[in-house]
Amino acid sequence: MSTSVTSLSPAELQKAARDHLWLHFTRMSSYTGEDIPIIVRGDGCYLEDINGKRYLDALAGLFAVNIGYGFGDEIGEAAAAQLRELPFYTNWSYAHPRAIELAAEVASLAPGDVNRVFFVSGGSEAVESAWKLARQYYSARGDNLRAQVAERMAAGERIEQRIPTQRRWKAVARRIAYHGTTMGALSINGIASLRIPFEPLVPDVIHVNNTNRYHRPPEETEAEFTAFLLEDLEEAILQAGAETVAMVIFEPVQNAGGSYTPPEGYWKGVREICDRYDILLCADEVITGFGRLGAWFGSERYDIRPDIITSAKGLSSAHAAIGAVIARDAVMEPFLEGHEMYAHGITFGGHPVMAAIALKNIEIMRRERIVEHVAEKQDYFHQQLSQLLDLPIVGDLRGTGFFYALELVKNKETRETFSDEECETLLRGFLSPRLFEAGLICRADDRGDPVVQISPPLVADTAEIDEIVSILGEVLAEAGERMNR
Ligand SMILES: Cc1ncc(COP(=O)(O)O)c(C=O)c1O
Repeated sequence: MSTSVTSLSPAELQKAARDHLWLHFTRMSSYTGEDIPIIVRGDGCYLEDINGKRYLDALAGLFAVNIGYGFGDEIGEAAAAQLRELPFYTNWSYAHPRAIELAAEVASLAPGDVNRVFFVSGGSEAVESAWKLARQYYSARGDNLRAQVAERMAAGERIEQRIPTQRRWKAVARRIAYHGTTMGALSINGIASLRIPFEPLVPDVIHVNNTNRYHRPPEETEAEFTAFLLEDLEEAILQAGAETVAMVIFEPVQNAGGSYTPPEGYWKGVREICDRYDILLCADEVITGFGRLGAWFGSERYDIRPDIITSAKGLSSAHAAIGAVIARDAVMEPFLEGHEMYAHGITFGGHPVMAAIALKNIEIMRRERIVEHVAEKQDYFHQQLSQLLDLPIVGDLRGTGFFYALELVKNKETRETFSDEECETLLRGFLSPRLFEAGLICRADDRGDPVVQISPPLVADTAEIDEIVSILGEVLAEAGERMNR
């Protein structure tokens, strides 16, 4: 049995977990008669539980541990050095070297003039902060204009120009998309079951179609699909009142629902619509940022040209609780004048130890050529996974980079999906526990149609990819037989 860095025995840990630890997004009742899984260590793409059993982590923590579990010593040294030098100081009115260096590093990796970095503690906070930034951007821009006009009028100039009120607050997001859990980010979510318990939510979010093509009419061409999506987006903006919409927020490839990639021409069209109505475009790259799609940012991969990027997980490969809102120079411009300031802050935003860890993570990613590795291996990954399409239960394979999903169907010919009850039996009753038992961590999810999500550490190589496909093949074949009985 492995030893763990704790004074509690495995039985004591289990008891303390049951008595005190409230797990996130977890039906605690499911552990009444079963042990809570306790993970004690990791190496490379593998994890080990308290009983010494090993698992291939095909979910990279939560789409997050991009460099895998093998660089803890090196990152630990960077964290320890920072703790000795300066354990904490804030970014409220002050800077410190690690936050500055990390901001410069992130700006150098982000596309185009997306250069201004505001640090937060995670993905939800990044999304929350992006929406607040977009809301305040328009009023700050209006205030600046008003101040300039007042100054010129005070100097004797006669100005007839009417200054628009410029208050915008609405956000547009996609159906089934997940963007986090704080009230603002939650309101942006397009997953009804997560929203309903907390209603009324933050006004106003408009949800539009996502890029899931699998359930579209089979005769529809890709160009027609793109046109349909763009018309839907523009129509939604017009109905909401374009002059009230502050931000469109989409992921480069949508995770919830299962790795929905964009059809050809989609991002170009989204950018054009945002430009037409003067709306800020935010790419939520909490998952896709820092290498998952074979580029540092998905925005680069799809030439999205966003005004704002939200990121978190991969920024530190989840070795630290740090996220970032990265904005174009133009978005910061109104805040560089007079009394304006972005009226937002978080004590731990830009925490020096978190920043030191993120810097070391990026150094490791560069040195080990991890982003290049994803770009080189993604075709192999896709090819291997596509073998699973031979199974009767696997209807679709979606995704790119190291970010895939298999959609499970009841009937492959008609693409009929499983009922809620069948999903419960299939996903929670069989697939999740069976995959775990088989030593593979990936996610069986039914926030949209039922999918298995595969998103391993970016250091996964041929051996790990083959192992993922082999275990999935066996377990999904068994799942298909069970559902057919
Ligand atoms: C696209 C996206 N945005 C935001 C979030 C929220 O991030 P966090 O869980 O760090 O708050 C997530 C989390 O998975 C995400 O996938």
